[in-house]
Amino acid sequence: MKVLVVGNGGREHALAWKLLQSQHVEQVICVPGNGGTAIMPRCQNLSLSVDDFEGIKQCALTNNISLVVVGPELPLAKGITDYLQHHQIKVFGPTKQGAQIESSKYWAKSLMQSAGVPTATFAVFMEVEAAKAYIKTQKAPIVVKADGLAAGKGVTVAANVEEAQAAVESLFGNGFSTIVIEEFLRGQEVSVLALTDGLTIRALLPAADHKRIGEGDAGENTGGMGAYAPAPIVTTELMARIETEILQPTLEALRQRGIDYRGVLYAGLMINTVGDPIVLEFNCRFGDPETQVILPLLETPLEHLLLACSEQQLEQLPAITWKPGAAACVVAASKGYPGAYEKGKQISGIEQVEALGASVFQAGTQFKQQQLLTDGGRVLGVTATGESLQKAIAEAYRAIDCIKFEGIYYRTDIGHRLI
Ligand code: AMP
Ligand code: GLY
Repeated sequence: MKVLVVGNGGREHALAWKLLQSQHVEQVICVPGNGGTAIMPRCQNLSLSVDDFEGIKQCALTNNISLVVVGPELPLAKGITDYLQHHQIKVFGPTKQGAQIESSKYWAKSLMQSAGVPTATFAVFMEVEAAKAYIKTQKAPIVVKADGLAAGKGVTVAANVEEAQAAVESLFGNGFSTIVIEEFLRGQEVSVLALTDGLTIRALLPAADHKRIGEGDAGENTGGMGAYAPAPIVTTELMARIETEILQPTLEALRQRGIDYRGVLYAGLMINTVGDPIVLEFNCRFGDPETQVILPLLETPLEHLLLACSEQQLEQLPAITWKPGAAACVVAASKGYPGAYEKGKQISGIEQVEALGASVFQAGTQFKQQQLLTDGGRVLGVTATGESLQKAIAEAYRAIDCIKFEGIYYRTDIGHRLI
């Protein structure tokens, strides 16, 4: 089969890499892809934007694509699945209605409320003064969230009333018309991604991301600076609770709203101080960099799972199987990220990383005139596997040491909670 992957991050490189490990996958086309997918054997890039639905449809029809796998939230929120399905093209990823679980915090909160899914208590505001007045009645820290997609910049965890009020003003000032203010939750964060065909839902290995730019989880939020899987905090018992208390009721609530949700249901959870799982957010897609640690451990052929979701046949497949051991990913970023940064720096060391048995999943890179250059904030991630998490983390650090580019920055404490 031939697969079209939409997106250009480390997540999409990992999806293409995993799909191409199967002898049943003849070719992957990435739209638009990155420097890594440009040079991977049997993979090719097509330079279209992720919301050029017409161009993606043409590419899928011309190349006899069996399945389109959508990486990022933006095209899902804009309705790429509805559009392609209308043209009889199979898609892995929810429809526009389903993608609201990520594109509207308020919608997701209401869904959780109706399904009895545990989440932080909240209030919704469409007007600055009312929001500011409400904040005065709350205990800090206070969490302020934009209602729409904000590329990871829509959430402020405010240390005091003034900071929370400034966040409210900034969101309304930047064009958001609705905001959610919610209770601050303490505990440990974990990402549980599940595959669903709208009827059956199967959780993948639990993973932990590191969202902050700085060591010790300090500083600004980023797209994710590193990850590991499986996250030991999610015991078998806790996973069973997550499935029955969160994943299944959420899928049921989606169905009750007439939504046939086929794709990834990604639950961003806080495991609170007494060990209960509480939803911080849902995403409608694979996580980045969680995907870069989950897929290397997956034994079941990925294309079987994704196709079964799009064809509503997930129940027919045997249970998902995993390789033993663990995986860790460390992300290398450009100096200045998540603020302003320079591009076009030459990257070296990929072959050395691969010689050590680790994988490089490229993100903000481009392959230009036979040179691999930086082209984004998060440049690449190095993933290593090992028989234990400690070994996987140590290997990932040994490998990333080989990567060189001007201004390279990475956290040296990925997985620090475990060591
Ligand atoms: P979200 O996009 O909703 O996941 O928020 C981004 C990040 O903000 C999360 O990964 C958490 O680190 C933090 N966060 C969001 N909501 C809360 C909350 N209610 N309590 C504590 N931290 C939160
Ligand atoms: N790793 C966080 C995300 O994908 O949203």
